[in-house]
Amino acid sequence: MTLWGGRFSTKLNQQAWDLNSSLGVDQRLAIQDVDGSLAWAGAIHETGILSDKEHASISVGLDTVRKEFSQGQFTFAPSDEDIHTAVERRLTELIGDIAGKLHTGRSRNDQVATDFRLWMLGAIPELASALKNLQTALVENAESAGETIMPGYTHLQRAQPILLAHWWLSHYHPLQRDIERLNDLVKRVSVLPLGSAALAGTSIAVDRNALAKSLGFAKPSQNSLDAISDRDFAAEYLFCTTMIGIHLSKLAEQIVLYTTAEFGFFELSDAFSTGSSLMPQKKNPDVFELTRGKAGTMIGVLTGLLATLKGLPSTYDKDLQEDKQPVFEATDILLVMLPVIANALRTITVKVERMRDAIDSTMMATDLADYLVDKGIPFRETHAIAGKIVRLAEEKKVGMEKLPLEAYQAECPEFEADVYQVFDALKSIEKRNAVGGTSLKSVTMQIAECKMQNST
Ligand code: ARG
Repeated sequence: MTLWGGRFSTKLNQQAWDLNSSLGVDQRLAIQDVDGSLAWAGAIHETGILSDKEHASISVGLDTVRKEFSQGQFTFAPSDEDIHTAVERRLTELIGDIAGKLHTGRSRNDQVATDFRLWMLGAIPELASALKNLQTALVENAESAGETIMPGYTHLQRAQPILLAHWWLSHYHPLQRDIERLNDLVKRVSVLPLGSAALAGTSIAVDRNALAKSLGFAKPSQNSLDAISDRDFAAEYLFCTTMIGIHLSKLAEQIVLYTTAEFGFFELSDAFSTGSSLMPQKKNPDVFELTRGKAGTMIGVLTGLLATLKGLPSTYDKDLQEDKQPVFEATDILLVMLPVIANALRTITVKVERMRDAIDSTMMATDLADYLVDKGIPFRETHAIAGKIVRLAEEKKVGMEKLPLEAYQAECPEFEADVYQVFDALKSIEKRNAVGGTSLKSVTMQIAECKMQNST
């Protein structure tokens, strides 16, 4: 039985039924649907629509339905068009026709929006805790990196030496913004649509403030038309998940690069690498390639939902049934990916020597310019002088540290014998001591702050 057969003389065409049915997707809202129904039964009982006995019977019945779902014992019927129909059908089997009173003053329109929001209020903390776990792995790696130095890049060209710890933590902070974005979204998800009915608001005098509270929502929606059509929260959620995907893909791309023979900065543990069916020597970073690839999928589901929402007439249109699949898909991707990435990073080997060897003296050219700045020469000039020294070293095919002092002094008489100290990468790092810089002191502070943040 559908919930809407009364005015129809023939059954819905089977293929149209298949198209229309959403059970395959929305059965994930089973528990939320039962909880929403329990709360609704309570609300209409307060108004006298349900007698004490009817309310008790519906509540006991719904509790049984919930138990069946949570124990995996619920059996769907071919006539279950969606999760709402399934719950009501089962309730009717359990308690008889009195179940038909539950839907008084309610529509599937406000029901589905409520279920979906309830589901998301549960998913957000789950995602946040998976993100936190990855952050913990990044902080652990930063801590064990100690004074390990590596080349920092811009334009993927060697730029300046940095601490490996600084690099690890550069992937911590984006995830922190992701967590904050998700937590900020909660206040917009936590608005209860139930009581908006089909579109115009329920005709039952329910106390929507109390109803919101009983379901754990911050407040009831203020405009029934908007409440029925509002899927901003789903779009925002997908932006959050997509941004996480993008952050992870940037980290992943660097792991892919840094595990190549050409870079050789890291080696993945066997447990997180895969082989080739043809080339016996291959050790592939599939986990990170998939991370990179899934970001594309996630961008797709975000733009897909935005396209669904664009130009929709208010209030409910069946197009809105397309809102759940993308949200579930992005969530599932992240909940699988985040722990794998965390564990792959926890077991990665750092090739300290390779990182150090990748630093050459040209990366200290800025320090050479700064050396002259310390002697009072304007940076614009010192930049040009340092550039000339770089070119000279290139012409002579030696490192800048190998050029004789006379060569330096020929470009600028202010150069003295201590100039060679600028080619010490760790010294260069130590000079970047402002808040947020790569010096040991600054990074140690950063680690302490991240640890504190991550533990709350
Ligand atoms: N399966 C529908 C959805 O997910 C539930 C709402 C149905 N409402 C309706 N007026 N047909 O959007």
